[in-house]
Amino acid sequence: MEKGYEMAIEIKATGKAVPPQRVSNDDLAVRVDTSDEWIRSHTGIGARHIAADDTAGSDLAAEAAFNTLSMAAEGDDIPEKTIEEILPTIDLIVLGTTSPDYYGCPSTACVVQSKLGAKNAAALDINAACSSFIYGIETAAGMLSINEKRRRALIIGTEVLSRIVDWNDRSLCVLFGDGAGAVLVEKTRTEGRRGLLRTVLGADGTGAEHLIIRRGGGRSPIKDGETVKSHPHVEMNGQAVYNFAVKAVTETIEELLRLEGITIDDVSRIVPHQANARIVQAAAKRLDISEEKFFLNIEEYANTSAASIPIALDELNRKGEIRRGDIIMTVGFGAGLTYGGNLIVW
Ligand code: ACO
Repeated sequence: MEKGYEMAIEIKATGKAVPPQRVSNDDLAVRVDTSDEWIRSHTGIGARHIAADDTAGSDLAAEAAFNTLSMAAEGDDIPEKTIEEILPTIDLIVLGTTSPDYYGCPSTACVVQSKLGAKNAAALDINAACSSFIYGIETAAGMLSINEKRRRALIIGTEVLSRIVDWNDRSLCVLFGDGAGAVLVEKTRTEGRRGLLRTVLGADGTGAEHLIIRRGGGRSPIKDGETVKSHPHVEMNGQAVYNFAVKAVTETIEELLRLEGITIDDVSRIVPHQANARIVQAAAKRLDISEEKFFLNIEEYANTSAASIPIALDELNRKGEIRRGDIIMTVGFGAGLTYGGNLIVW
């Protein structure tokens, strides 16, 4: 490393993929005993996008990745000017999902590697549920940093949560949506601090039962000849998750600021996991941070778990609301229970 230069993990481009089928709260209320008024007032959700039957998480992930690479090719931040030129330079694909294409194996990341034709990329899935993207950035940063031959990684969050919710459970099915988001990161040498500054990660496995898919795993396998009354689906203790989430978001924001020695005024935007607008509002109130600081798009997409933060980053980025040098904070929580946040200089 040249003197005066520091290694950085910089975000070079972003992308997303959202299924075209949009289901508003009113559309949902036709088949589920709910209402637009209840969903909006309890969650801030106005709609969700649902994948077609023949679309899996890898399809959305590949589309989000292509959109990311297309942004990278069009920009002037990297020398390659076509997606075909960039693809062989991808050394790693880290993909977060709670709704993989296949149970156990192969990983959805490997399916995406094939769809992209990123033949030089190592590929793995990680599952920290809704915190997967936050964990994924740190995972990719570590894997790029430790090996001089690795330079570029795609970090992807993708979900088809519509496949793992019980559509008869009104307290749950109204909350989730499908989609994917991605970022391209590169290991660079820069003067001054850039890229990923710091990550806080944590887990509290004692809360594992609060958000769980019981059926189908090794603990509760679906046996030969068994009549499956319902497909494997998410069960949630909403109140317990809510309380955990407000505490996790509040404490992660405080911890990131404290460890980095900055104040909230130094942070341009906070991009939270989009689970429930009320969780964000409660954390903002506790910390005395303006709600405007938090970017929320939950009204349009509902909770897309591992995809929610990269989708939000891409929307902000494409709107031109993030400028080079801005400090962006991500913060989230999910099943596990897991939580965490990243500080990134854009
Ligand atoms: N439509 C209409 N009424 C409903 C609905 C619905 N969709 N869902 C529940 N109700 C009713 C209930 O039956 C109950 O009625 P009752 O009082 O007659 O029994 C009433 O509304 C209140 O229900 P609660 O469950 O107590 O509602 P609460 O105010 O706690 O809100 C919610 C529920 C929104 C799920 C809240 O607990 C929450 O946001 N929790 C956190 C959820 C979360 O963030 N999950 C994801 C995190 S991790 C991840 O992203 C995977």
